[in-house]
Amino acid sequence: MIDQAKMVAGRKAVDFVESGMTVGLGTGSTAYYFIDELGRRIRTGQLEDIQAVATSRRSQEQAESLGIKVVSLDMVEYIDVLVDGADETTYQGYGIKGGGGALLYEKIVAMASKKNIWIITPDKMVETLGAFPLPIEVVPFGSLRLFDNLRQMGLNPSFRKMENDSIYVTDSGNYIFDLHLQEIPAPHQLALELERMVGVIEHGLFLDLTDMIIVGYENGETHIHHCGQE
Ligand code: 5RP
Repeated sequence: MIDQAKMVAGRKAVDFVESGMTVGLGTGSTAYYFIDELGRRIRTGQLEDIQAVATSRRSQEQAESLGIKVVSLDMVEYIDVLVDGADETTYQGYGIKGGGGALLYEKIVAMASKKNIWIITPDKMVETLGAFPLPIEVVPFGSLRLFDNLRQMGLNPSFRKMENDSIYVTDSGNYIFDLHLQEIPAPHQLALELERMVGVIEHGLFLDLTDMIIVGYENGETHIHHCGQE
C-alpha cells in the first residue's frame, strides 16, 4: 500500500541531490520512496554521475534493481548527503533509529556524511524520546548475560524476534534488543551509559547528527525543518 506522506517526504529529499554526488541510502519504508525517486531521476537523465552507499542489504538490492550504482563505504572519501528515515525525532534532531534493524550501518554511514537528512511523517515528531522502544545492536556471544544486566538496570529489554519467533539477526550477524523505556529525558547520558557496556555494539540514539528533517503530509505537502535553527 502506498503511504502518501512517506512518499512525498522521500521524493522531496531527492531535490537535495545533485549530479556527481555520492549519496547515502537509508533503510525503511520511507527511504524506499527516496531510493525509488532517485532511480527515476537517474533513468530520466535529470541526475548524472551518481554513486550510492547503502545502509542495508535491502536498500542495496532495491537500488541495484533500479540501475543505481552502489559502491562500498570504503571506496569513497565521504558521502555528500545521506537520506534516511527515523522512528522518533525531537525538533533539535535527536532521534531514535533502528526500528528496521539497520542502526549500525546507518550510524556508520551517517558519520561519514557531510549532510544528514531525515524523512519522516508528522507522527514521528516528539517532545521527548522514548515512546518508541530504543533498539541496541549486541554481540550474540554472552547476550543472555547482557540482557540480564540491562534488565537489572531497569532498561526493560526485549529480544527482537522475527514473525516466525526466531531471533532477528542483523546484516552484520548480531542481535537486537529493544529497550522499552517510555521516556528518555537525558538521551546523551543514556547514550554514554550504553556505549560503556561491553557487548553493546551500537545504540539507536542518533544525537547531533542530523542537519535537516523533511516532514511529509498526507495532503502532499512537505515541511523542511533545519535542525538547530528553530
Ligand atoms: C531502520 C531505521 C528506519 O529508518 C526507521 O525504522 C524508520 O523506518 P520507516 O521509514 O519504515 O518508518 O532506522 O533501521
